[in-house]
Parts: sequence; C-alpha cells; structure tokens
Amino acid sequence: MKRALLVGGTGFVGGAIARRLAGAGFFLTLPTRRAERAKALTVLPTAQIVEADVHDEAALARLMAGQDVVISLVGMLKGDFRRGHAELPGKIARAAADVGVPRLIHISALGAAPDAPSAYLRTKAAGEAALRAAYPAATIFQPSVIFGRGDSFLTLFAGLLKLAPVVPLACPDARFQPVWIEDVVGAVVTSLGRPESQGRTYPLCGPRAYTLRELVAYTGAVSGQPRPIIGLPLALAYLQAWLMEFLPNGPMTRDNVHSMQVPNVCPADCTLPFGLAATPLEAVAPTYLAG
Ligand SMILES: NC(=O)c1ccc[n+]([C@@H]2O[C@H](COP(=O)([O-])OP(=O)(O)OC[C@H]3O[C@@H](n4cnc5c(N)ncnc54)[C@H](OP(=O)(O)O)[C@@H]3O)[C@@H](O)[C@H]2O)c1
Repeated sequence: MKRALLVGGTGFVGGAIARRLAGAGFFLTLPTRRAERAKALTVLPTAQIVEADVHDEAALARLMAGQDVVISLVGMLKGDFRRGHAELPGKIARAAADVGVPRLIHISALGAAPDAPSAYLRTKAAGEAALRAAYPAATIFQPSVIFGRGDSFLTLFAGLLKLAPVVPLACPDARFQPVWIEDVVGAVVTSLGRPESQGRTYPLCGPRAYTLRELVAYTGAVSGQPRPIIGLPLALAYLQAWLMEFLPNGPMTRDNVHSMQVPNVCPADCTLPFGLAATPLEAVAPTYLAG
C-alpha cells in the first residue's frame, strides 16, 4: 500500500485530496494542531490523524519516514504568513529531501509573486522559492479561488446574503477564475502518475473569469436570496475589512483587499494541466447552494 503524508491535509482542499487518495488505496497520515478539528476525516479507513507540530523539524522528519508522497497544504488568510506560508514549505522540502521522499507536491496560490500586493501572495511566493531550493523536483499547484461543497467562498457569500438585505461589497470589479475542488484534486492525483510534472508549476483555473459582483449576484440567484449589491469605494472597502478583522472568523481582512487589486485569473488559455477539462461553476454550485 502506498503512503502519503498531507501536511495541512485536514482542511477543505486536504480533506478532498485525502478522500480521493484513500479511495485509490493510499494509507494517509494527517497531522493537525487539534485532532478534534479533523473528526470528519476519521471515517476514512486508511487515514491516521495525528496531533503534531509540523513547524518542528524533528517532528516533520519523523512524519516523513516511509512516505511515498508528501503534499504540503498549510495555508491561512490571516495569522503568521511568514511562518506558515514562507518558512514551513522550506522546512517540509528539506525534511522530504533528507528522508528521501520520492514525490513532493505543494499547493500554493494563483498570483503568488514576490511583488504581489498582499502579504498572503508574497509569502506564498517566498514559500515556493524555499521549497524549490530544497527540493527542485517538487510539483507546485497554484489554484485560483476554489469552489465546491464546504468552500469558504460561495458558501460564505450565501451565509452573508441570508443576513443582509443589501450587500455592501468591497472590490466588486475584482476578477476571479474559480476552479472546482474536484478538478484541483484531479490535477494533484493525476500528477502523481506523471513523472514529467516533477519540477513544474501549474496554475489551476476554471473555464471562465467573473467579477466579484457577478459571483455574489449569482450566489444570490441560485440560493434564492437575490439582494441589491452596492460596490464600496476602496477607502470604505479597507474600513469594512479593518472592522471585520475584529471578528473571530471575519470574512475579510485588509490583506484580502490588497490581494483583490490584481486579477486572480489564469494566463491566456490555461485552465487545468494533463488534458483535464475544467468544470463550469454553473454545473456544480446549484448542487450545494440551492435552497
Ligand atoms: N480554498 C481556496 O480557495 C484556495 C485557493 C487557492 C489556494 N489555496 C491554498 O490551498 C491550501 C489549502 O487551503 P484550504 O482551503 O484547504 O485551507 P483550510 O481549509 O483553511 O485548511 C488549512 C490547513 O492548514 C492547517 N494550518 C492552518 N494554519 C496552520 C498553522 N499555523 N500551522 C500548522 N497548520 C496550519 C490546518 O490544520 P489544522 O488541522 O491544524 O487546523 C488545515 O489543515 C492553502 O495553502 C491555501 O492557501 C486555497
């Protein structure tokens, strides 16, 4: 039986990859800060959930021993970006190289660049560089925003629409090319059987780009909660985000507003690698937003 370690594998993307790999006969190790949070994955018969500090290099080395594949997925929208996005991928890559793990996959983000407008994207770029330096054959994926059941994207909009008679929307013209979670999983799992994907970086996008206003309006229409949308000028967008930073699970930060100043869309004609077909948002979103 093949073995895979998913660092940051207890979240939305990691959970979906774990389900697919478990179905394909992998034995999975899923480290977490709190096992309680990963309860939903305990149903996978070949998944072992372990409490571990993945920032500790000795702990990482122990987790890597005997693994055929390591997938690096830790990410956050607020918190210590330098530690989680920039330093951790380097630690993971060094441990994987030292232990001799044959494949390393890293999930970064579309738009990661050293000169990107947000700390999220700049630290994602630093993490890619640190990972590549230590493990040049790693395969890196850069998804645009990901949709699917359990997402923190359209589902979040639907939740907010339930509460608000009118939507004051930051960055209504920001552009995204959302990609379906199962297409992201498909690209990651397919890459394991494609040696030519080693050392490569692949953007992952859906078939169409939308403005944020279009996505919120679509969510309203599909979830049966159409609402008037009022686009906020940039200064008010920053004020709204700053206020939301005081909420424990606030839906937006000022760094998100920085991120949205550049389009989050794929370079021309690129959606998914390996000849995979990207699934339209409209084919999936109604299955989990309707009603
Ligand atoms: N979702 C999207 O739309 C999207 C789009 C582009 C890129 N991505 C990238 O895809 C990756 C997975 O995203 P996701 O949506 O699955 O995120 P998620 O649901 O929030 O899961 C985050 C994972 O990272 C771990 N984690 C978070 N902060 C950590 C920290 N400080 N130390 C150690 N572990 C930590 C969590 O583990 P615990 O069990 O310990 O909480 C969890 O396993 C991230 O790198 C993200 O940047 C996501």
